[in-house]
Amino acid sequence: MAYETIIVEVEDHVATIKLNRPDALNALNSHLLRELGTALAEADRNDKVRCIILTGSAKAFAAGADIKEMSEKSYVDMFLSDFFGGEGRAITSTRKPVIAAVAGYALGGGCELAMMCDFIIAADTAKFGQPEINLGVIAGLGGTQRLTRFIGKSKAMDMNLTGRFMDAEEAERSGLVSRVVPAKKLMEEARAAADKIAEKSIPSTMAAKEAVNRAYETTLSEGLLFERRLFHALFATEDQKEGMAAFMEKRTAQFRDR
Ligand code: HXC
Repeated sequence: MAYETIIVEVEDHVATIKLNRPDALNALNSHLLRELGTALAEADRNDKVRCIILTGSAKAFAAGADIKEMSEKSYVDMFLSDFFGGEGRAITSTRKPVIAAVAGYALGGGCELAMMCDFIIAADTAKFGQPEINLGVIAGLGGTQRLTRFIGKSKAMDMNLTGRFMDAEEAERSGLVSRVVPAKKLMEEARAAADKIAEKSIPSTMAAKEAVNRAYETTLSEGLLFERRLFHALFATEDQKEGMAAFMEKRTAQFRDR
């Protein structure tokens, strides 16, 4: 499918989606977020795709929601359209693993979009922030909620109240990103991680994703039960038999996603 604000490439088992509004530092407008939701749903449906990478440019993953699009909107406009609520749910409903490969600015909705992915690999040039406070508003896509769960109350308050940016090193130290790599190696490292994930059995990668995400939605005992039931359920797969047989026979498992 042809897109105007994103570029999608599927190579081997990995779909790479690149945000592509260079003149606006990849600011997220309705059109881009709808295209992104469609591309993610398409990648989810494509049997060839086993992992997805979401990235931006060297200067910006995304500098936030498009301020020009939002500036004239009223409360009723925002409320009736549930501004970016539906688009956000479309993104987080992706069932295959999604890696955010972030270089440059990931601000406001850009930081929130990165946090909607399953984990973030940051270039050493990455800068994260929730500067909405400077615009007379607050974060609206998870910047007060997901960020607080990721980095804790003190740092999340600091980011949301002062609007300051966090560099890649602090982001890794704070648990926002899983690793920091040299900017030049960002896509290579993201691709290597995606290739690793693509080697696994899809039922188990989807189950792992569901189980980790459940940790943010429920109590520990309910989460542990959910995890245990998924763990038990995977014994109904052929890939569990294959994975364990391969280990005992000292060979590489040949998963069939069954
Ligand atoms: C629209 C944006 C934009 C944005 C940058 N641009 N960010 N347009 N919305 N969020 C545009 C600029 O207007 C400019 O276009 C071009 O991109 C280059 O930006 P510059 O400002 O000239 O670049 P630079 O001086 O390098 O500064 C980079 C920057 C700055 C620090 C990232 O652009 C910035 O502060 N941007 C806004 C960041 C922000 O406040 N994000 C939160 C948005 S609110 P022209 O045409 O002038 O050349 C949000 C809410 C989410 O995200 C909740 C949704 C539900």
